[in-house]
Amino acid sequence: MNKNNIIKTIVLGTVLSISSLVAAEMEVTFEDAVKECDSCHGKNGNSEASHIPTIAGISEYYFLDTMSSFKKGERPASTQSRDGFPDTDMQECADKLTEDMTKQLASYYAKQAFIPVIQEFTPELAKTGKKHFKKYCEKCHEDSGRSKDDDAGILAGQHGQYLKDTLEQIVSGEREVGKKMKKKLDRLIKKSGPESIDALLHFFASQQK
Ligand code: HEC
Ligand code: HEC
Repeated sequence: MNKNNIIKTIVLGTVLSISSLVAAEMEVTFEDAVKECDSCHGKNGNSEASHIPTIAGISEYYFLDTMSSFKKGERPASTQSRDGFPDTDMQECADKLTEDMTKQLASYYAKQAFIPVIQEFTPELAKTGKKHFKKYCEKCHEDSGRSKDDDAGILAGQHGQYLKDTLEQIVSGEREVGKKMKKKLDRLIKKSGPESIDALLHFFASQQK
């Protein structure tokens, strides 16, 4: 092959791969993407499964930040099964979205109403959890962990099993968060023992309005 033909082949190859890429991206409409997300996260992002977080009402900033962590493999993602769709995990879900679609989804879910989960809790433990929360967490997680404007997720009324799993990942270092938050969590556990995490979970579960 002479030099010109090699260049032609390379150019043609590039054009083909770009056009097939565009075709693949165009196949997923916004409605299809929402359907796929809701197949795990529930209608309008309000999850019905305790190990899957509700994503309705979370801030665009937190949404985009955490989707980027999933995409880069920096945040652990667990494989999930659901009806009518193949098994997948959050890294795969985040990776196949275009940047523009991710932004559209962030804006859509931020506008959905977060419905606090009705779940069991022990009032006595919730009271202890509230004390820990005020001392160690409230500075950043505003309004008892209910605020979305703090860009740190929604904790109050979030699913208990999800919060338990994610706090375990944060404590073990599997899921990386800001250094200051990690320090507060470590200090709480050192002072009040691992059962303090359980008390916090009861406090979050006790907020049902
Ligand atoms: C197969 C199930 C499944 C699908 C489909 C799915 N998710 Fe998830 N998502 C999860 C699980 C489970 C978690 C919790 C982290 C983990 O264990 O992977 C999660 C976590 C998240 C979080 C972090 C929430 C938080 O409070 O930190 C966001 C944001 C999110 N998903 C958005 C999406 C979007 C947007 C889509 C659609 C493009 C989507 N998810 C599709 C299962 C799924
Ligand atoms: C210095 C500010 C700060 C403090 C103090 C703090 N956090 Fe956070 N927290 C954050 C930020 C910011 C995030 C978002 C993740 C990230 O980028 O660090 C977060 C994320 C979280 C998440 C994950 C939310 C989700 O939807 O997955 C949980 C759970 C959490 N924090 C619990 C706590 C608890 C419990 C305490 C008190 C022991 C605490 N945080 C103290 C700033 C803080």
